[in-house]
Amino acid sequence: MTDVISSSRKTHTLTIAGIVDETPDAKSLIFSVPNEARETFTYLPGQFLTLQIPSERSGSVARCYSLSSSPIVDSNLMVTIKRTAGGYGSNWLCDNAAEGMQLNVLPPSGIFTPGSLDSDFLLIAGGSGITPVISIAKTVLSAGTGNVVLFYANRAAESVIFAREVDELSQRSPGRLSVKHWLESERGVPTSELLATEFAAAGIEREAFICGPGPFKDAAVSALRALGYDKSQIHLEIFNSLSGNPFDTSASLASSDSIPGTTVSAEITIGGDVHNIEWPIDVPLVQHLLNRGIDVPFSCQEGECGTCLATVNRGKARMLTNFVLDDDDITSGSILACQALPDCDDMIRIDFDA
Ligand code: FES
Repeated sequence: MTDVISSSRKTHTLTIAGIVDETPDAKSLIFSVPNEARETFTYLPGQFLTLQIPSERSGSVARCYSLSSSPIVDSNLMVTIKRTAGGYGSNWLCDNAAEGMQLNVLPPSGIFTPGSLDSDFLLIAGGSGITPVISIAKTVLSAGTGNVVLFYANRAAESVIFAREVDELSQRSPGRLSVKHWLESERGVPTSELLATEFAAAGIEREAFICGPGPFKDAAVSALRALGYDKSQIHLEIFNSLSGNPFDTSASLASSDSIPGTTVSAEITIGGDVHNIEWPIDVPLVQHLLNRGIDVPFSCQEGECGTCLATVNRGKARMLTNFVLDDDDITSGSILACQALPDCDDMIRIDFDA
């Protein structure tokens, strides 16, 4: 494993230790992590890796893939990738990934993770949306005390990723895991009304985690809200294609240095360290911290992934773009630091650890 860009970027080269054919169009890539990088690649169930994939047209593209392994159960990191029509990154990996291949990887990140493993869960997966969901299920059943209902929708039986693993998990967890499969080939597309009927028996005292295609997620959210789930109980994984490339450091560093502007005093807490800095009013916070050599969690730098989530505890900041946070999140002080600019004259305090 090599630090290929800089310590603050935390980009590493990992070797593919194994490949598992999950279905005719889905593969799992298993990465071995050397002992010296174990801490860097510590992760929570539901998080993802960002991979750098070679591209003849642009040199490389960055793609995020959810970890399907469990940090408690599995010794190696595994991401599961499904072919998609016109999906360059996924298709390239399905066609070219091989044991021994090295890929540049950003450390795990993402906010689609349970706050406690001891809650009861309703896990809702559509197709390849099972990848972070099975990581959560395995981890809760192994290290938590919660009871899990897994609703898993697929087009047809042959496209069910982890069919055997889900079945074995269910058998190993009597009374704690209940699995409901839904095959569109037999029952049609699940509407919100049909989903509400499916979810009703699980009750509403659960944390709901939803991952899958957009219309499926929308239908699931409508169903949960109709049943009486509070918004705070519903957690959505957002699959946005990255429009930027977090592996391309030169462009962002140059552009941030070239913009002059006044500054605001800022107190930034990251990983328990407090940094008192002057923050230029026209440079997004993540970019400014990276320029100063301060390690900060980020991936897309496009407001699309939520990796750079932070909380404004004093003062005010605004975002250039936001595809992750809703109005309630913003009202409670959450901000995407990669899109954040100061929006006050006095000192601003931002906490990445809250
Ligand atoms: S790094 Fe992805 S939203 Fe900020």
